[in-house]
Amino acid sequence: MYRKFQNAVLQGRLIRASYLKLMSIVDWLLSYVLSLPFIKDFIVACFKIIVTSNHEQTRSIDCLWMGTRANKYPADLWIYSEIIYSTKPDIIIECGTDRGGTTTFLASLCDLFGNGSVISIDVESVKRPQHPRIQYLHGSSTQKEITGIFEDQINSAKNVLVILDSDHSKEHVLNELRLYSKFIKKGNYLIVEDTLLNGHPVLNSFGPGPMEAVNEFLLENKDFIVDKNCEKFLMSLNPRGYLMRVR
Ligand SMILES: C[S@@+](CC[C@H](N)C(=O)[O-])C[C@H]1O[C@@H](n2cnc3c(N)ncnc32)[C@H](O)[C@@H]1O
Repeated sequence: MYRKFQNAVLQGRLIRASYLKLMSIVDWLLSYVLSLPFIKDFIVACFKIIVTSNHEQTRSIDCLWMGTRANKYPADLWIYSEIIYSTKPDIIIECGTDRGGTTTFLASLCDLFGNGSVISIDVESVKRPQHPRIQYLHGSSTQKEITGIFEDQINSAKNVLVILDSDHSKEHVLNELRLYSKFIKKGNYLIVEDTLLNGHPVLNSFGPGPMEAVNEFLLENKDFIVDKNCEKFLMSLNPRGYLMRVR
């Protein structure tokens, strides 16, 4: 009886040891396969397509900040918080407000870090959350009458952050890049949102958009680099969209 029990225990240990060995081989194999750049890129691309497929047209995500929709993926908002904490912008310009969820998120960060104000521009004028650090402007982000309102303020600011998230056509984003890049100080960021459109990797039929604008802008302006570290969470709606001024 005791012998039978001893055999069963031994067998159990043997099975467990074999199972652990097998799992360590599977783990090693998976780590190797997933480290191959094209496999990793493929998986990340699939994930982006899944995440943005909720709203077929807008490719937006139901992400709320204090009850208001922010058209962002949370990992990007976390990157925003890291950029704002490290660069301490005195003024944040957001082109494209929509509901104002991201605008309020930015103002909340300014509150938390004790510095900065937010100017948000949109062609649509709707009811949005009010906050002492937020100024909403009604008009197009590339209109001289609009940029003229804050030009002096932004020129005298020590640090600045600009987020381009309005009309996503290549032409408009390129105009914004040329216009707003001159306000950005060395070490500060110019963020181009939704560079994943037009097959990068979502919405193949979108036509030339933010990614194409970024690529053309970087060819003509050598003062900016793509900060790939801002894509460290892999899932970002802004691949190659975090531009840092380096000179
Ligand atoms: C993607 S939504 C902005 C999302 C917002 N930044 C957020 O994170 O929730 C794009 C917005 O850009 C606005 N828009 C479109 N063309 C514009 C332009 N030329 N200038 C400023 N805003 C524009 C639209 O009215 C829309 O509200």
